[in-house]
Amino acid sequence: MRHALILAALLVGLTQVAVAGEAERFTWTKDKFGYVATGDPKTGEELAEQFRCRKCHNENGISDDEDVPSIAGQRRTYMYKQMMEFKSGVRDSEDMYKAMRKLSSDDMIHVAAWYESLEAAPQVGGQKLLVMKVCDSCHDKDIVEEDNKIEVAPILRGQIRKYLEASMQQFKEANRSNDLFERMQSVSHKLTDDEIKRLSRYYSAADPQ
Ligand code: HEC
Ligand code: HEC
Repeated sequence: MRHALILAALLVGLTQVAVAGEAERFTWTKDKFGYVATGDPKTGEELAEQFRCRKCHNENGISDDEDVPSIAGQRRTYMYKQMMEFKSGVRDSEDMYKAMRKLSSDDMIHVAAWYESLEAAPQVGGQKLLVMKVCDSCHDKDIVEEDNKIEVAPILRGQIRKYLEASMQQFKEANRSNDLFERMQSVSHKLTDDEIKRLSRYYSAADPQ
């Protein structure tokens, strides 16, 4: 009897953890887009200083470290979602978890507005592949909407080459699975390692010195 009770208590505990995990799953609504649009770049600039984003992402949001993405000129909606997910652990990164721990949701919309307002690094370009038409059909749009399923894809042009490559590999191996409808995971499954390299070269900025 005592064992049964302990077991029952354990099971209840497990269900609660599972439910809490589900509750943190990010979704987009019209209201949330409206909310993110109210982010104020000036407030964001002060927060970027206070929370030391610049230590890793640099003064101008353009990275000079192969493992750190550039965030200048990135879509604020995309960045807001990533920040929320780093904080909740849905997207795994020790550095970004620590950086986000003390930020409120309001802080994030301001800081995202600031980085969006900065000029992105120029794309250097490599050889064009046919599949890029498919990539651009999502990545060149502000919002990806299909069958009432809404999400936001990041701007790829001018990103750090090694970061592009690493993130595609992460989606391919499902080490990163925060794309809401697994669209990016299913695309990357079909890519060979060589294609991933060439796609990364094409979209990237010049490599950091
Ligand atoms: C200690 C270094 C460090 C600090 C401080 C830091 N970041 Fe990051 N940031 C990273 C790294 C590394 C990644 C890539 C994580 C990964 O993919 O594993 C990243 C990723 C991001 C991304 C996702 C970009 C994308 O293309 O998906 C955003 C947005 C971001 N950081 C914003 C910020 C903001 C805003 C701050 C300050 C509040 C900040 N970061 C502070 C290192 C840092
Ligand atoms: C059906 C839409 C769709 C297509 C097609 C697509 N992507 Fe994506 N991709 C996304 C979404 C959505 C995300 C962001 C998921 C998230 O974290 O919220 C993403 C994320 C990425 C990232 C991570 C970037 C970062 O800043 O962290 C890379 C790299 C990427 N895609 C490359 C590609 C390439 C290259 C192609 C073409 C072979 C492609 N994608 C095709 C929707 C798409």
